[in-house]
Amino acid sequence: MKFFIDTASLAQIKEAQDLGILDGVTTNPSLMAKEGITGTDRVMKHYVDICNIVDGDVSAEVIATEYDAMVREGEDLAALHPNITVKLPMTRNGVKAIKYFADKGIKTNCTLVFSAGQALLAAKAGATYVSPFIGRLDDVSTDGVQLIEQIRTIYDNYGYNTQILAASVRHPMHIIQCAEIGADVATCPLSAIVALFDHPLTAIGLEKFLADHKKAAQQQVASK
Ligand code: E4P
Repeated sequence: MKFFIDTASLAQIKEAQDLGILDGVTTNPSLMAKEGITGTDRVMKHYVDICNIVDGDVSAEVIATEYDAMVREGEDLAALHPNITVKLPMTRNGVKAIKYFADKGIKTNCTLVFSAGQALLAAKAGATYVSPFIGRLDDVSTDGVQLIEQIRTIYDNYGYNTQILAASVRHPMHIIQCAEIGADVATCPLSAIVALFDHPLTAIGLEKFLADHKKAAQQQVASK
């Protein structure tokens, strides 16, 4: 399973990249706003900065909602760097634009997906990635992980190449559950990724190994 980081923070992207397990980045207009990145020029430069940190797909979301404007904006984004994936919302115009980009060989990510039917449409249009938002479904008492399972079954039934990108991941158990089901990608906050490293028995075990090593070395010195 690929690990993407879901942030527009260059510091967090660098930190995740340094861990050696990062495969890509997803952003959205809210995440860009959180970093104070506004105005077309700054937004475009920020995407290039992200692409220069990570060697993997970087989702850049269009703001336009009309088909022609979505296509124009998506083409500008795709021209920034070969790793840019044009992120388009699950709307009629968004799906039509996905089909346009798919026909041109430009990578797309269909975002704001909350049902299996929507995921089916994204795959039929030729989306590179589909982004079911599992955390936001959990927030409204609907099992987000179950949606990943449903989409996996549907895509496998027909051999769709669209990659399931589990989004709105909130905690490490979401990542494990998505991996068990066979999601292709999980895009996660840094906190959920780093939480996977920790286990109390790992810390206790390492402490004991080092203490035993030190004791043996001291005994060797004392016996000389
Ligand atoms: C996906 O690409 C979105 O950016 C993201 O996962 C949304 O997550 P949230 O529900 O934590 O805002």
